[in-house]
Amino acid sequence: MSVITDKFGRPLKDLRISVIDRCNFRCTYCMPKEIFGRDFVFMPREQLLSFEEIERLAKIFVDLGVRKIRLTGGEPLMRRDLPTLISKLTKIDQLEDIGLTTNGSLLGHLAEKLKEAGLKRVNVSLDALDDELFKSINDSGVGPERVLKGIQKAKEVGLEVKVNMVVKKGMNDHQVVPMAAYFKEQGIILRYIEFMDVGQTNSWDFSKVITKKQIYEQLNEQFDLEPVDPDYLGEVAKRYRYVGTNTEVGFITSVSESFCSTCTRARIAADGKMYTCLFAENGFDFRELLRSDKSDLEIKDEVIRIWNNRTDRYSDERTEESAKSRSKIEMSYIGG
Ligand code: GTP
Ligand code: 5AD
Ligand code: SF4
Ligand code: SF4
Repeated sequence: MSVITDKFGRPLKDLRISVIDRCNFRCTYCMPKEIFGRDFVFMPREQLLSFEEIERLAKIFVDLGVRKIRLTGGEPLMRRDLPTLISKLTKIDQLEDIGLTTNGSLLGHLAEKLKEAGLKRVNVSLDALDDELFKSINDSGVGPERVLKGIQKAKEVGLEVKVNMVVKKGMNDHQVVPMAAYFKEQGIILRYIEFMDVGQTNSWDFSKVITKKQIYEQLNEQFDLEPVDPDYLGEVAKRYRYVGTNTEVGFITSVSESFCSTCTRARIAADGKMYTCLFAENGFDFRELLRSDKSDLEIKDEVIRIWNNRTDRYSDERTEESAKSRSKIEMSYIGG
């Protein structure tokens, strides 16, 4: 198999698959209730790719060089029988890594089944430890306790856990140090994510971004940190270790230090559209191909054609203007 590359020589290595566009949270920066309210129309079931369709696509991508798959949402644990999909994917030869990104609220119930299905690791989003603040961010009445219990359960059953915290100015920047202290104590990797201009509905602008540098300065006052080398080319997080421990902390710096030059990720939305960038405006309809009489070979050729033509480097080129003018897809639809 020859490696396929895009216009900038970047290979196709990772695939992020969104399995559902629904979420039981309404994080104010992602699915604000004014837009994702009671009358918001989500995808009907028949428009979602079936597990068989996802498996077929996954095999095609793995044949083309993908070694890492991450399942996302919305909230992926809201997809019925998700462990069944995971057990199908874990059987794909040459696939080295399967991850899941979740808000953690259903992890307490599902961790065991996910582990049994062959999942190795989960990334759990948690933006604050303060009860009232966390409830106001997710806007759905769930306190941090429930997510922490989910994390606990995941660890107990043997899943590797990392925590993701989106940091937004005026929202939760004062939780940076308490979150670090808590997860350092727990020996769990915490990653700070710069607030990004994904989608159309989160009223992003530069002034609401807390950069890696600002977060690092807060941490540096309390902890001794040393940089850790990346594990592989294209690793998303910049990593540091608390000196004298094995515990790490990371930064995902899409705004202040973009990482497009090593971006090897393709994305599939829950309706089967493929996107070559998180900030893409248009996707390619693979559901239609999967439901036609096209062969695997023909579908594979289509992926090659799309990847060979890829020129995305949105974060490298981001300006206040492009952040506002571009009609981007929503985070809950594309899965981050
Ligand atoms: P690991 O395999 O555990 O490193 O996972 P990950 O960091 O790739 O995935 P996760 O779903 O935990 O994503 C963490 C954050 O990184 C989310 O906010 C994603 O939107 C963001 N992210 C992941 N990949 C990209 C990317 O290619 N571009 C940008 N701009 N952000 C990304
Ligand atoms: N900027 C940065 N991260 C975001 N996430 C959702 N919306 C944004 C945004 N605008 C995070 C979620 C989750 C991950 C998949 O993406 O909190 O941790
Ligand atoms: Fe919050 Fe994630 Fe749900 Fe968006 S998809 S509302 S960030 S939990
Ligand atoms: Fe990849 Fe697009 Fe993110 Fe750049 S902005 S790292 S091209 S997904």
